[in-house]
Amino acid sequence: MHIVAIDGPAGSGKSSVSKACAKALGFGYLDTGAAYRALTYAIQNLGLIVTQRSADQIATDFQYSISLNPNDYWVKVGELDLTYEIRSPEVGAGVSEFAVLPQVRQFMLNLTRSLVESSGLQGVLVEGRDITTKVFPEAKTRILLTASEEVRLGRRSAELPEGTIVADQVTKRDQNDSKVVDFLVPAEGVILVDSSELDFDQTVRAITALVVNK
Ligand code: DC
Repeated sequence: MHIVAIDGPAGSGKSSVSKACAKALGFGYLDTGAAYRALTYAIQNLGLIVTQRSADQIATDFQYSISLNPNDYWVKVGELDLTYEIRSPEVGAGVSEFAVLPQVRQFMLNLTRSLVESSGLQGVLVEGRDITTKVFPEAKTRILLTASEEVRLGRRSAELPEGTIVADQVTKRDQNDSKVVDFLVPAEGVILVDSSELDFDQTVRAITALVVNK
């Protein structure tokens, strides 16, 4: 199986670029941030408890499923479809608090590996913060996708309602998240793709070419 690991900060265009690359390559697409978001939603709204719990207990209590099909993306907890709910500002503001917990990170690592390994796909593009370094350090292709802070803030603000304070949502979250995993500097052997000067199609082409040339 060809695993493509892509890490990067909020607003780097990682999710939309990764999805487009997966479609172009005929690969599966796994958005690992969705599980952190769904877990946060379940804690906030469904009574899920993760403190004082082990990774295995979280796996029992949190019935998570996600589509790896880049043409049909959905996220569920039990029978509940949360594809849109996990993008809310409440979830975005709460997610870092739970993403730092060691038992949550251990659960996510096990979950991500098992989703990929049981997929039966010939290739999967896995996107997140610690994929190149912790989850799949042996992936065939490993990429860190970045963009300057200015460009990232601009891209995020284009996605949100006018007047939203984007710096709070992007910069603060990155500051919190990067205390646990370093996704701003490429680890050894990880290819850095800086999309500050590239448009969407150019970024997709650059990454697709890196994968094809492996
Ligand atoms: O990619 P995203 O913005 O949907 O991710 C949501 C949160 O999940 C982000 O604030 C950090 C966390 N996360 C993580 O810690 N490790 C990952 N591999 C993916 C996401």
